[in-house]
Amino acid sequence: STEVEVTLRVDGTPHRLTVDVRTTLLDALRERLGNTSAKKGCDHGQCGACTVLLNGRRVNSCLALAVAHDGAEIVTAAGLALDGELHPMQRAFIRHDAFQCGYCTPGQIVSAVAMLAEAEAGWPSAVTMGEPAGVGSGGGDGPTVGTVTDDEVRERMSGNLCRCAAYANIVPAIQEVAR
Ligand code: FES
Repeated sequence: STEVEVTLRVDGTPHRLTVDVRTTLLDALRERLGNTSAKKGCDHGQCGACTVLLNGRRVNSCLALAVAHDGAEIVTAAGLALDGELHPMQRAFIRHDAFQCGYCTPGQIVSAVAMLAEAEAGWPSAVTMGEPAGVGSGGGDGPTVGTVTDDEVRERMSGNLCRCAAYANIVPAIQEVAR
């Protein structure tokens, strides 16, 4: 095996670690750093349970190689809570009972936070998502936060599956934060 040193800044704390080049970001987080906030559902990019923010973009961490992201800033659902205060999206999920078993919830919440930021930026495409807010599509039809429709929420959150089918409560939870 080939091992490489990488630095990952996770929820504000830098970590230097040696990883096999095949180690996914998800396994680096869970198995090497003991951060189990991101969940492993499918390990194949199908379910979204492993969603984290990678330099501000939502990604399926099971599809990212840790070695490819030396120096990256990672935010997990746990890192969204600051100074003991839950993030508004976390509070909204609790208030709306937007889960049953809760396994998909960290990924849902990270994805929802990123999705609203994308909405605010006028739905930048996947290609331009890394650019500053406002650079995205430039089209006039991009909704701003506050006017995102339920259908848009459902479409933009379609990468996050919930096997308990709590979707009927997830959409209103997200909408409460959007408004
Ligand atoms: Fe990564 Fe399912 S565990 S998408």
